[in-house]
Amino acid sequence: MKISVCGKGGSGKSTLVSLLANQAQARGLKTLVVDSDESNSGLFRMLGFDKPPIPLMELVGGKRKLKEKLSEKSIFGETQIFTRDIPSEYIQKSDGLMLVGIGKILHSLEGCACPMGVLSREFLRKLKLTEKEIALIDMEAGVEHFGRGVDESIDSVLLVVEPSFESIEVAEKVKSLASGIHKNVRAVLNKVASDGIASRLTEQLKAKQIEIIGSIPNDATVFEACLEGKALKEGKALESAGKILDSLLSS
Ligand SMILES: Nc1ncnc2c1ncn2[C@@H]1O[C@H](COP(=O)(O)OP(=O)(O)OP(=O)(O)O)[C@@H](O)[C@H]1O
Ligand SMILES: [Mg+2]
Repeated sequence: MKISVCGKGGSGKSTLVSLLANQAQARGLKTLVVDSDESNSGLFRMLGFDKPPIPLMELVGGKRKLKEKLSEKSIFGETQIFTRDIPSEYIQKSDGLMLVGIGKILHSLEGCACPMGVLSREFLRKLKLTEKEIALIDMEAGVEHFGRGVDESIDSVLLVVEPSFESIEVAEKVKSLASGIHKNVRAVLNKVASDGIASRLTEQLKAKQIEIIGSIPNDATVFEACLEGKALKEGKALESAGKILDSLLSS
């Protein structure tokens, strides 16, 4: 199952990916996290790795050479990519948890991030998971990835919604773009500080026909782990993510 996690900037996409990855690992699944966000670079820390893998963009020779290299002899020249085929420098592994990164914008004036979108789309399209594997994709903020076709091969689109007007607006846009490519979207409420907030968010999303699959409380341990650049090992947010994962796996 390939699950993408998307939503407004700062809504908690990377946090949810890390929490779900932790829970998937605890359930004995081999869990591939795909860092498809070309801006933020701290996901490896949230997953407990001490460094990021070399981006897959380097494997194809960088942004400029992308087009010619995609058809050359590398894993991208194959019709299917299994996690075992990814050269070790390009994938971090620990106890069933794996991380690959597509690429980051590192220099001013280096050009747009479209090649990252192309590579994300091609990687996800060719990625072939075995029965006990799951992939969690940390998307870039907003909705541009839909325009780039990155979501085409995704089985389930998870939408993180925090209690803000903008987040609900992005949710509506995601729902409409996803239905344009026949993808089902399910929302996860995040940073929910009270039952009152939860019911207001629920009401607003229901009015937009957006299904809610779970809710994650506003949890100080999440914030602290993020501040310290550490993986989160316990707490209410992690428990809630466990329920969300079970519901995803049983659907
Ligand atoms: N449930 C939560 N409780 C408390 N703080 C949270 C929670 N979820 C996320 N945060 C905090 O919100 C901030 C943004 O979270 P995160 O980096 O996961 O968002 P994001 O959507 O990945 O952001 P970006 O769009 O920049 O990639 C972080 O400081 C994180 O600790
Ligand atoms: Mg993020």
